[in-house]
Order: sequence, then C-alpha cells, then structure tokens
Amino acid sequence: MRIVVLTGAGISAESGIPTFRGAGGLWEGHRIEDVASPEGWNKNPELVLDFYNQRRRGILSAQPNAAHIQLAALDAHHEIQIITQNIDDLHERAGSKNILHLHGEILKARSVKNPNLITPINGDIQIGDVASDGAQLRPHIVWFGEQVPMLEMAIPLVEQAEILVIIGTSMVVYPAAGLLHYASPEIPVYVINPEITEISRRKNIHFIQKNAGEGVTEFIRLVLTK
Ligand code: APR
Repeated sequence: MRIVVLTGAGISAESGIPTFRGAGGLWEGHRIEDVASPEGWNKNPELVLDFYNQRRRGILSAQPNAAHIQLAALDAHHEIQIITQNIDDLHERAGSKNILHLHGEILKARSVKNPNLITPINGDIQIGDVASDGAQLRPHIVWFGEQVPMLEMAIPLVEQAEILVIIGTSMVVYPAAGLLHYASPEIPVYVINPEITEISRRKNIHFIQKNAGEGVTEFIRLVLTK
C-alpha cells in the first residue's frame, strides 16, 4: 500500500516540542514576521538566530514518540512516504526511510548568498559564522514569504498516494495545506488530531480524534490490520 503521511507540529507535541498555534504555542511572545521572515532577518538577524538556536536545543534534547516510532515500523510492510512540515529530525531518529521536509530542517544551515550551499549543524549559529563561500550562515528553514522548493517533489507523491494520513497539523499554512487537493478523490483520507479542525469536518474525511500516538495505533488497527 502506498501511504503518504503528512505531518505537522502536533506529531512532535508528545515529544515535548510546542506546536505553533496552540496555547503556549511557539510564536507566543514573538511576532511571526520578526522571527520567521526575510524582513525579520534583515531587521534583526541576532533575534532570528537566537530563536532558532533555542528551537535546535529543544529538538536535540527531545526523543521520537510512539507516533514517529509506529510510522517508522510501517516501512517494513508498506511504501510509506512522510511529508513533514516539521523542522525537527524525529521521523529520522525513529527510523523512517522516506522523509521530505517541506519547511526545511533545523539541523542544517545554509549560506545567505547561495541557497544550495547547505551544511549540517548541531550547535548554535552565531553572527559571523560563515559558509564556505564566506557568506553568513542562516538556518535552513523556509520562512513566511519564501518559496517552498520541496513542494514540487511533494505534489507527485501525494498524487500517487493510495491512502493519505494527515497528523497533527492545523492545515492553515499554504502551500502545504493545498497538498490535500492533489490527492485522488478516490482514496481514503484520515485525519489524526485531538482537536476538531477545518479539514476534520469535511465530507469524506475519516477523522480520528486522538493524540498522534494513540491515533496512529487506531489507524493501523482500522486500516492495516486484517
Ligand atoms: N497529537 C496530534 N495533534 C496534536 C497534538 C497531539 N498530541 N497536540 C496538538 N495537536 C494539533 C493541534 O490541534 C493543531 O491542529 O496539532 C496541530 C498543530 O498546528 P500548528 O501549531 O498550526 O502547526 P502546523 O500545522 O505544523 O503549522 C504549519 O506553520 O508556522 C508554520 O512553518 C511552520 O510548519 C509550520 C506551519
């Protein structure tokens, strides 16, 4: 079975990584445009680096949870493609093989001058840290107002899906949210989220109103266990 799993911040919530829009969400105390936009970077790059340095530290001290681990185990019997909006590496650490990061990766940095000059990083980035072209390093993250280069790879994957599972995302940020429309109308779409969201109310959606860990267990029981 070719299963595409679209994940968002909610799948990492049980690993202790705050979501963006929930109570106590990540943006709280920050204006999104100050820490996650090219304008914010131009105005105050220290603030932006500090914001992502804190995110990186939090992610490095977190562990994959039952949802990441159960999804990784499905690789043994199914063709699983994870498409994540998350910048953490918890799907990787759980052992999933096919992962596409739509919004970048916190454990990579890149040159401000050359978006293709990408380097792994697991410590803080400071002003004055430069890429091999001599230009300042920035987090390898897609900010608001920037292109989403991985979208082009994600679209055909969603088009070919035989099952689509959407876990822990509010599906309000485009173009990621628009991926749903590329799924064939014939295929079943499952939404796992403890909260009712705009998409969970739609017709033809199988809504599993649970946290990610329990929700993935339920999905496997309902759909993949004969
Ligand atoms: N299990 C599953 N889902 C959960 C859990 C949980 N334990 N806890 C919360 N959620 C759900 C929330 O109900 C919400 O619908 O996860 C969702 C998180 O939504 P957002 O905070 O909006 O995160 P996300 O959808 O990933 O944001 C998309 O927005 O800010 C940008 O680039 C950033 O990739 C991010 C994008």
